[in-house]
Amino acid sequence: MSNTSPIQSVRIWDLPTRIFHVLLLTLIAGMYVTGDIGEDWLPVHFLMGYAVLTLILFRLVWGVVGGYWSRFSNFVPTSSRLIRYVKALRQPTSEHAIGHNPLGALSVLAMLLTLLLQVFSGFCSDDEVAATGPWTSLVSSNCVEWATLYHTEIGQVALLFLIALHVASVVFYKFFKHEDLITPMVKGDKALPADVPASKDTAITRTVAVIVLAMCGYLVYRLVHLG
Ligand code: HEM
Ligand code: HEM
Repeated sequence: MSNTSPIQSVRIWDLPTRIFHVLLLTLIAGMYVTGDIGEDWLPVHFLMGYAVLTLILFRLVWGVVGGYWSRFSNFVPTSSRLIRYVKALRQPTSEHAIGHNPLGALSVLAMLLTLLLQVFSGFCSDDEVAATGPWTSLVSSNCVEWATLYHTEIGQVALLFLIALHVASVVFYKFFKHEDLITPMVKGDKALPADVPASKDTAITRTVAVIVLAMCGYLVYRLVHLG
């Protein structure tokens, strides 16, 4: 990052990434509510779970073809960058990252992976009363037992832990590092030197996002109907 360029508003999080985030957090809240309030709500839990899977698949594709700062290649850290970043963490005035900082990137990847495990364990879960996931007839009863155990006892707790860590980190950055991460995730832009590459966020890229999302939705439909 050059120090001589004038500071201006630079698009970091494109609209598809921001909508992905707000939909994901709303749906995950819904998953915990519909999973916990009783078997009558499991059909809704399933539908919302398919929407979560569509979003995650979308984000994986968007991590390759999406806006510059949403691409995995531009935020997955090398180990040396990670170590340097962690060492500087205790200083309140260390340099702000442009996209996800190296620790944030790890937390994003961990959340995406844990979400995938939660969804696919749900696909193989059986509540032994009224609802069975769409893949329970495709796998052994032993696998159904393990998947249900993972889904209800391990995965959902691991996910809650990661979400709590995620939100706590955002708060830590705001109050200890004096870095507001929330406004850019809502509005898209950060004040940065003009020579920082911006994420493309045009009508065309947004249309591509809608097409990618529709394709992911269709893939999920096919996966659900495998059984
Ligand atoms: C169920 C709850 C949540 C989940 C699963 C979740 C998940 C995620 C994911 C996957 C990303 C990466 C975005 C991307 O690159 O596509 C992200 C980023 C972010 N989230 Fe959340 N989030 C949740 C709740 C929240 C809440 C409540 C806040 C506000 C306090 C928040 C603030 C942020 C911010 C500021 C970023 C950008 C971080 C950065 O600049 O590196 N999230 N979140
Ligand atoms: C990220 C997505 C998901 C989250 C966070 C989630 C979370 C939960 C939670 C908190 C419960 C209640 C556990 C308990 O009784 O203590 C539950 C139950 C259940 N979920 Fe999910 N779930 C997700 C996705 C799915 C999907 C995609 C399916 C199936 C297509 C599914 C199928 C089930 C079933 C069958 C149960 C009842 C299990 C039982 O009572 O033994 N879940 N889920």
